[in-house]
Amino acid sequence: MSHISLYRKYRPDSFDKVIGQSHIVRTLVNQINSGNISHAYLFTGTRGTGKTTVARIFARAINCESPVNGSPCGRCETCLQLQNPGNMDILEIDAASNSTVDEIRDLREKVKYPPVSGKYKVYIIDEVHMLSQSAFNALLKTLEEPPSHVVFILATTDVHKLPQTILSRCMRFDFKLLSVGEIAGNLKRIFDDIGRKYSEEAINLIATSAEGSVRDSLSVADMCVAYCGDYIGYDDVLEVLGASDPHAVIGLAAAVIGRDVQKTLTIIDNLAGYGKNIAVLDKDVATAVRNALFIKNCSNAAEVLKLPKDIFDKLAEIASSADNDRLLYVLDSFNGLSGELRFSTQPRIMFEATAVRACCDYGTSELENRVRRLEAAIGGGATAKPVNAPQKKNERLEVVPEVLWDNCRTEIVGKEKCFTLGIAMNKYSTISAEGNVFKVTFPNEADAAIVRIFANAALIENKLATLSGEKYKLSVCVEKASADDVVSRLKNVFGDDFKITK
Ligand SMILES: Nc1ncnc2c1ncn2[C@@H]1O[C@H](COP(=O)(O)OP(=O)(O)O)[C@@H](O)[C@H]1O
Ligand SMILES: [Mg+2]
Ligand SMILES: [Zn+2]
Repeated sequence: MSHISLYRKYRPDSFDKVIGQSHIVRTLVNQINSGNISHAYLFTGTRGTGKTTVARIFARAINCESPVNGSPCGRCETCLQLQNPGNMDILEIDAASNSTVDEIRDLREKVKYPPVSGKYKVYIIDEVHMLSQSAFNALLKTLEEPPSHVVFILATTDVHKLPQTILSRCMRFDFKLLSVGEIAGNLKRIFDDIGRKYSEEAINLIATSAEGSVRDSLSVADMCVAYCGDYIGYDDVLEVLGASDPHAVIGLAAAVIGRDVQKTLTIIDNLAGYGKNIAVLDKDVATAVRNALFIKNCSNAAEVLKLPKDIFDKLAEIASSADNDRLLYVLDSFNGLSGELRFSTQPRIMFEATAVRACCDYGTSELENRVRRLEAAIGGGATAKPVNAPQKKNERLEVVPEVLWDNCRTEIVGKEKCFTLGIAMNKYSTISAEGNVFKVTFPNEADAAIVRIFANAALIENKLATLSGEKYKLSVCVEKASADDVVSRLKNVFGDDFKITK
């Protein structure tokens, strides 16, 4: 038995089998019933939403001798004639193929001949945006004054690539993406029809992965039918989609949201180790976070998402572990990446960098929250310490030399373990910064001498520069001994007996 793909086998042959698109179907059926047919139609929309299907039904319906609810009856002479793919009245042209210029020229020659079996000769031109300039021009000539027995149906996924001259001559219909529910219903009907069992979750996973395209949902369904036995389960569908283990993906999302860099990188390493496509992984993580957001904010999440219970529960846990700002920030990080990953030669590095950044960074709204908390704290009596963050020269903050010196000393003791220098530095008497001279005065030569040692001075200058962003020249001085001072020191040596003699 030869295998017919599901999307061919289940191409609707009447309007009532077309799912979604009711706005389009209703209008077309009305035109058929009233006999008020236009001469040029334009069907636009994503692939697999029913453009070709509806075009074919419409083409047969306008020729049918006794349409049933606007659809071709399938029994009359004309319907039987037109079911034959070799008929001369419904002609499909694929603009994406090479021979189109000739075909369109040929079309210009032949449009004038009346239809063979029915009332209308219908030209369905698929992917019309792919027509070459000369083919467009040839088509336009015909569209300008079509014979009354001719109907054009142009179909395209890229309507913005069509010239205004074409757009203005057509009656336009926009095919919308199908909802998960509509696609899931269609899948169930088809699986029931071919006698396959399935889980509700599996159906929902296929429907979600199709992102609005019935055709894509049927391609996945086809693979599932080939891959699975009688029963199509959630895990089978994951396998067919090449999706990552959802538990690992949720674990990754949770690690990022919880700012656990080590765990994040470990999970990525595990997942990437299985050779998972990074772009798919990125999409999976984004979907997990999106689902968590959904669970956090929508009371009917279980009903809508239709996820297996263990997965839903894990997502609910993530959802309650973070606020909306955090979830949105992480979602944005991964969501913005998928496009770039496709063009990157190093997708894994890019993905890891994004994940780590999402662990460490704060989104604007997260920052706003932090600022608000800080403001509240300050308002409540907490005081802000001066921060000597690096500043650009012309927007330099007022430097408090003592604070800078103190920070510098803390680093020299804490980081550099230069204890002797640290003790000496602590014995300063005055500090000032004038221009780029950082002047420190010590009461006695012994401490000044330690600070002045070339290696120490260089270390201090270095620290001052990194802490303040300013390149200071260190100037170490010793207090000029005043007369009184000399006296007191001498007294120390000689005791109270010492007297000044003039
Ligand atoms: N609205 C729809 N209702 C039912 N089946 C659909 C619909 N859209 C697409 N399909 C299925 O997908 C297949 C491809 O659809 P098609 O009409 O060729 O899409 P398009 O021309 O928009 O790319 C059809 O054979 C059919 O099985
Ligand atoms: Mg098509
Ligand atoms: Zn008929």
